[in-house]
Amino acid sequence: MSEAQALDDRARKILRDNDRGGHTVPTDRLYPYQWNWDSAFAAFGFSTFDIDRAWTEFDTLFSGQWANGMVPHILFHQPDDDYFPGPDVWCTHAAVPSSGISQPPVAATLARKTYERDPVIGRQRIRILYDKFLAWHQWFNNHRCESGAAAITHPWEAGRDNAPDWDAAMVAIDPSGVAPYTRRDTGHVDPSMRPTKYDYDRYIALVQFGRDQGWDEDKILKDSPFRVADPTTTFTLLRAHRDLKWLGDQLGENTEIIDGWISDLAQGAEILWNADLKSYDSRDLRSGNFANSLSNASFLSWYAGVEDGRSLATLVELLKKVKYGVPSFSPDSAKFDARRYWRGPVWAIMNTLIAMGLGEAGHHEIATRLRLDTAELIKLNGFAEYYDPYDGTPAGGGTFTWTAAVWLGWASPTAKEV
Ligand code: GLC
Repeated sequence: MSEAQALDDRARKILRDNDRGGHTVPTDRLYPYQWNWDSAFAAFGFSTFDIDRAWTEFDTLFSGQWANGMVPHILFHQPDDDYFPGPDVWCTHAAVPSSGISQPPVAATLARKTYERDPVIGRQRIRILYDKFLAWHQWFNNHRCESGAAAITHPWEAGRDNAPDWDAAMVAIDPSGVAPYTRRDTGHVDPSMRPTKYDYDRYIALVQFGRDQGWDEDKILKDSPFRVADPTTTFTLLRAHRDLKWLGDQLGENTEIIDGWISDLAQGAEILWNADLKSYDSRDLRSGNFANSLSNASFLSWYAGVEDGRSLATLVELLKKVKYGVPSFSPDSAKFDARRYWRGPVWAIMNTLIAMGLGEAGHHEIATRLRLDTAELIKLNGFAEYYDPYDGTPAGGGTFTWTAAVWLGWASPTAKEV
């Protein structure tokens, strides 16, 4: 058996082991529930060897959809003391206990890839899910796109929890009402690889704020101290709209409404272009200020179908600074921290999305570098949550679902891309 086949076996085993019966946890203990975008990646991984199980992952994800269309970032299918903040802190009163915010909508894109692996089964399964997807995308359009770009109401909504993108905006959050609490994450992982207490206090304060508003989106929009337009959400949503339209076309649906969302968001994304940084950037919607954050999310523009060449040189320069691209934050910044979560480490899933976009736009050389970098990280250091971009040291949790999934669907030499 070749090295690649042995790794394929390990990756499939990780997905099976992290399967809790219809939904996949990101990794045992550290993340014991169903996370939204992790789940979509899990489906992408399953689609390479068990197409039914892949679609079931989307079914369970949408089982937690709210009446207003929102698909939560965490579904608490069963109680578990290994994670804080749990359902008692969020108090969302949803049919499936859940958080009160969403996460980057990669699901339609990865559902399309799952469909393309087996169009006969895909057609049957997406038929049942299509209206649910549409309602979720409509929710984003109604409740997150008021600036033209897509915004987040909590750092966790961008999936890049402690990115420097939020540092300035976080200053406006008052954590004085947060009662003492015990973090669980730092009991599972070296605290130097996790967000700081300063950040955590503010994450919890924002959860309490949403809870006090009864998770009413209009009240949150009006009064929340935190609202940031962000490249992860904007570009994944724009891409997801395009793929949802494609899926709707397969079903013979009228997709005009999606055309409108696509053109609005493609124009709106321009507010994230930071000419000084020569890159897309996050933007605090309360102050109007750019975050001045050169992150891996900055390079999701090609994935979104936005090809203007402006940030290609910035990416090429950034890649010269590390051994394994793309770092989650620029090493030129004083805030760079090679092992702390979204402030420096490299993430296999982000490489996958960035490279998919680059490849589709014809930038094959860089796309290939990212695929080979990712494959080498996994070969040398296993299926980690994230890695040090200088020496590849594995960081965060191990046996990680989405790292195994993108190995199977994209990074493995045996991967057959769809
Ligand atoms: C962290 C990540 C987030 C991910 C979750 C589960 O919170 O920042 O993107 O979805 O872990 O893996």
